[in-house]
Amino acid sequence: MELAQAIENRISIRSFSAGSIPKETLREIIRRAGMAPSINNSQPWKFLVITRKELLRQMAAAVSESLNKLPVKDSEDVNRAFLSRIEWYSTFFEDAPAVIALLMKPYESQLEKGTGITHDEITRMRNHPDMQTAGAAIQNILLSAVDFGLGACWMSAPLVAQQELEKLLEVKEPWRLITFVAMGRPFGKPARKTRKTVDEILTFID
Ligand SMILES: Cc1cc2nc3c(=O)[nH]c(=O)nc-3n(C[C@H](O)[C@H](O)[C@H](O)COP(=O)(O)O)c2cc1C
Repeated sequence: MELAQAIENRISIRSFSAGSIPKETLREIIRRAGMAPSINNSQPWKFLVITRKELLRQMAAAVSESLNKLPVKDSEDVNRAFLSRIEWYSTFFEDAPAVIALLMKPYESQLEKGTGITHDEITRMRNHPDMQTAGAAIQNILLSAVDFGLGACWMSAPLVAQQELEKLLEVKEPWRLITFVAMGRPFGKPARKTRKTVDEILTFID
């Protein structure tokens, strides 16, 4: 598939048909994730591909539990329907044939080694190059999913239960759980969301 077509066709898919994704396909998708640029070519990532139903169920339960513990503002906007919508957008991965978890370890820059600037200061100064690196890898995953006729959704909402999820997935230091992608064959065809026009987002500086 042409890259432009994959970019145009990609939308977030949150409902999936039954049926697993071949391991070879998942492997190739992760290989392509690893082709993404990373800060100083540190490639500070690992990917878990989770297809075990019981584990996905436990993960979703941990997310729901964490959400239910959050202090809730008593207002008209924040009602039961609102909260259950958030819960659904945070836990629908439970029904995905595959869920990819991105793990990363902290990147140690040359500047950090050679100066008195701390890791946190450099990270702030460089606008979180670790997270920028994560974004590049995830976009490769999303576009590759389209290329294989699959649908996917990037998911950061489950991270409300980061500690519990790291325990369930046996993530050990220095690795941290960064984000998820739920993936499978699309069920239905959600409407494409609108986008700003190019004129609204572009400034040439000649
Ligand atoms: C960093 C990031 C985190 C996201 N987390 C979630 C999530 O937890 N749950 C969800 O349903 N969608 C999540 N999304 C998907 C966005 O809602 C979606 O990309 C956006 O609404 C645009 O829709 P589109 O992807 O169909 O173009 C996330 C997207 C990004 C970039």
